Amino acid sequence: MGAEVKVSETRDLTRIERIGAHSHIRGLGLDDTLEPRNVSQGMVGQKPARRAVGVICKMIKEGKIAGRGVLLAGQPGTGKTAIAMAMAKSLGEETPFAMMAGSEIFSLEMSKTEALTQAFRKAIGVKIKEETEIIEGEVVEIQIDRPATAGAASKSGKLTLKTTEMETVYDLGSKMIEALTKEKAQSGDVIAIDKASGKITKLGRSFARSRDYDATGAQTRFVQCPDGELQKRKEVVHVVTLHEIDVINSRTQGFLALFAGDTGEIRSEVREQINNKVAEWREEGKAEIVPGVLFIDEVHMLDMECFSFLNRALENEMAPILVVATNRGITKIRGTNYKSPHGIPLDLLDRLLIISTQPYTEDEMRRILDIRGEEEDVEMAEEAKELLTKIGQETSLRYAIHLITAAALACQKRRGKEVSIEDISKVYSLFMDVKRSTQFLMEYQEQFMFNEVPDTSEMVEG
Ligand SMILES: Nc1ncnc2c1ncn2[C@@H]1O[C@H](COP(=O)(O)OP(=O)(O)OP(=O)(O)O)[C@@H](O)[C@H]1O
Ligand SMILES: [Mg+2]
Repeated sequence: MGAEVKVSETRDLTRIERIGAHSHIRGLGLDDTLEPRNVSQGMVGQKPARRAVGVICKMIKEGKIAGRGVLLAGQPGTGKTAIAMAMAKSLGEETPFAMMAGSEIFSLEMSKTEALTQAFRKAIGVKIKEETEIIEGEVVEIQIDRPATAGAASKSGKLTLKTTEMETVYDLGSKMIEALTKEKAQSGDVIAIDKASGKITKLGRSFARSRDYDATGAQTRFVQCPDGELQKRKEVVHVVTLHEIDVINSRTQGFLALFAGDTGEIRSEVREQINNKVAEWREEGKAEIVPGVLFIDEVHMLDMECFSFLNRALENEMAPILVVATNRGITKIRGTNYKSPHGIPLDLLDRLLIISTQPYTEDEMRRILDIRGEEEDVEMAEEAKELLTKIGQETSLRYAIHLITAAALACQKRRGKEVSIEDISKVYSLFMDVKRSTQFLMEYQEQFMFNEVPDTSEMVEG
């Protein structure tokens, strides 16, 4: 019996594992005209902000702007981080998107400017075009000679490839035979062989052979038999970030640092060399710069030095789009006694386009809670959802989202099928929200340490 319990436990664990705060967000949910749909791709409401971000995304994709800044400003829990995540999703894999929190600057083992420089360079892609020689054709026959002595290492064989115009027989060594077997290439497949690396890629099955036998699965891709010569020059394109090039070329670190994440400081000579090299490639038409996005969340955590670094960095010709977010109002700029809107100096604010987020209506909150319930795989009764929405309105969206999992556990414990009103009210009494917790503190203030609420009697005197 013990074993059984364990199995179900592990199954549940792996299921819960990958649900993050924003895992339900799959994009901005805009239609082709950049008009936000009410509920789409996990996004609900917040339409003006989504539309504005959509316009920015479009400009980035068209490569029109560089070195601009956007500020997402709004109250806590109004979806600023969520919208940034959606932006990353909708920009796709090709556009670099670097993400950091303002406070990270202070916790790394490097200077603030180095951390920011690395972040900027993570957000700039270099599209490198390379010409390679390939052999591309339809496999006519693969013939492998099995040596008489079993286990001999040196296999050999012949590969016949054809295009619509010619047919050639190639000699095969053991490496190539291995590669062919790995790709499960057989006659009728169209394959490409990279001449430099010997890498073999199966492009699909030839149309001419589509009716040969019905053993081809549903996923089989059919392609035309290539025409022209077997040997071709082909252009391959890959995007790497400037930061990746930096790390690979900094001799003290080596590329393994990319995976470990501890890249340390990179010397400025290395960066200079790389900038020159990239400029050279651009002139020769071998490379293109792809300005991506650098997202700095909780930007009010940056201090004066960082802000003026940002000012300057935005004016660089290879600058990415800077997106920052904050929930602060008019407050002190970190490390100074000056007050400024959003805790950001005016000269930087002046360079930013400001997008504001608004608090959610009851209906929107309900939709978001619905989506979260689905994401966390929690069944909820209608009344339970209503109560949860009410709680969200009274307290905060985040608090209500947190109650979902807790209520699901309460429901599980009583072996219920779906979360009921009772489950919700149970966890509501179990976990405090900020309002109730504050009230509790007010009532029992004498019993806590470092209490700073002034005595009412003192207040009268003062
Ligand atoms: N429009 C929305 N559609 C779907 N989910 C949303 C939406 N807005 C917010 N959420 C979800 O609500 C939660 C809180 O939102 P988020 O973390 O983005 O708030 P925030 O504005 O960044 O707040 P803070 O200022 O405290 O950082 C997250 O789980 C987020 O995914
Ligand atoms: Mg946030």
